[in-house]
Amino acid sequence: MSENIIKITGVKKYFGGVKALDGVDLVVKKGEVHCLAGENGCGKSTIINVISGFYAPDAGTVEIDGKVYPKLTTQAAIDAGVQVIYQDLSVFPNLTVRENLALTMEVADGKKFVSKKRFNEIALQALSKIDFKVDLDEMVENLTVADKQLIAISRALLNNAKLIIMDEPTTAITQKEVKNLFGVIRDLQKQGIAVLFVSHKLDEVFEIAEHFTIFRSGKNVFSGKTEELDEKKFTYYMTGREIQEEPFSYAAKSGAKTVLEVKNLSLANGFADCSFSLKEGEILGITGLLGSGRTELAETIFGYHQAQSGEILIDGKKVEIKSVKDGIKNGIGYVPPERNVQGLFMEQSIADNISITRWKDHSNGLGFINEASIDDSVASWVKELSIKINDPADNMRTLSGGNAQKCVLAKWLSLENLKVLILNGPTVGVDIGAKYDIYKLTKRLAADGLAVIIISDDIREVLSNCNRVLVMRQGRLVEERMTSELDEASLSALSVEY
Ligand SMILES: Nc1ncnc2c1ncn2[C@@H]1O[C@H](COP(=O)(O)OP(=O)(O)OP(=O)(O)O)[C@@H](O)[C@H]1O
Ligand SMILES: [Mg+2]
Repeated sequence: MSENIIKITGVKKYFGGVKALDGVDLVVKKGEVHCLAGENGCGKSTIINVISGFYAPDAGTVEIDGKVYPKLTTQAAIDAGVQVIYQDLSVFPNLTVRENLALTMEVADGKKFVSKKRFNEIALQALSKIDFKVDLDEMVENLTVADKQLIAISRALLNNAKLIIMDEPTTAITQKEVKNLFGVIRDLQKQGIAVLFVSHKLDEVFEIAEHFTIFRSGKNVFSGKTEELDEKKFTYYMTGREIQEEPFSYAAKSGAKTVLEVKNLSLANGFADCSFSLKEGEILGITGLLGSGRTELAETIFGYHQAQSGEILIDGKKVEIKSVKDGIKNGIGYVPPERNVQGLFMEQSIADNISITRWKDHSNGLGFINEASIDDSVASWVKELSIKINDPADNMRTLSGGNAQKCVLAKWLSLENLKVLILNGPTVGVDIGAKYDIYKLTKRLAADGLAVIIISDDIREVLSNCNRVLVMRQGRLVEERMTSELDEASLSALSVEY
């Protein structure tokens, strides 16, 4: 018996000219919680796809549980005990919990007729493995993301999993749910199951993982125990550079204009009676738990929803924002949190995605588009945000998650009359090097007079980038503080529900 569940040696994977994996090694021992880290586009998702038999590597060997697989298929990987929990969780929203748990198994067994009794047995067996209590008759679409994730994990365990791979599992769940998920991971470990975990959240990976592998540009740069790393070393391995975060120092200029005023704004089932104002050069944080109404508030200011009551003023003048078009017309930019669904056109080119808010600037009076001018502006954004791309004409879908997020930013930053920029979870899924670049850019834009709102539940992000913070709870703005008066503990205490 092998002590390793996975042993990858010299694996290469190329996509056209892009070397996604350039000869990597990765060893995961049985029963180990292993973190795979690295900058956006360094090849993390690609290696996962190799281990699960989804991509055939161009070179190198894949060994699972002591056996080398020259041609690994997805079914062979499952049979060998590999289970991947993808970010979309691959659950069926319009089926019940019972059906979700039992169906794949019964179908895989080739059964044409299924009994409810049998379904019940399988479902209960699945849930018992992680001690998860949920109503079997509930439709999965009514569950929270965290519960859907637990369904996906329970289902994975039915297939005698020996290794569970999770690609960024904590991006869409609350802090409390992360704690719960970590409890489940510890339980799995006790049962001898290994977990390979991808995340960009430093505090989390240090808490849960005992072993690290770090990739940079498709190559291994570190593999070892957590004790061998501290934050500084980790950052250095990831980025190849030393990063020093500078706190945001905001000096209110005398005569700084108030750019945005929100007065008693309300949205049914969203938020109520919200008022605040924002001066040029400020970076205002809005924090609160998922579901506190923070996203609805941002979306209403931008024009996704129409407020029931209240007023929005830009540069002291009342404006009607009834649609996204109105939002853009009034100089408001919004970077949404769910980059794949809201922010981008996945089937169009990278260049089109970045320049889409500026068609007018790139076309002449007759509406002909000036390709050269688009190319210049796209190239400058790719450089400014260090977006890792092969060719701007490539399909958006070919980009890694974090690089896609940077394109959403570029798209809004290239809006000409931008006055207020709302960043909702700007660095979710973004690596630390890129985070730093985004923070630096945001601070520079604020220094140039832009008014910025950062919506985030990342306490450190809020404290080091904002001069003021509003806390939202159950649809209401309940606290307003200067960040200079706060530390991590006091801000996190303010945002929890009681
Ligand atoms: N199907 C594909 N076609 C072309 N290029 C691809 C494809 N899939 C991945 N790539 C490229 O391979 C590289 C590695 O991508 P991968 O998705 O593995 O990165 P990642 O480490 O998961 O990044 P992130 O942290 O942003 O999710 C990137 O440069 C990406 O653009
Ligand atoms: Mg990825």
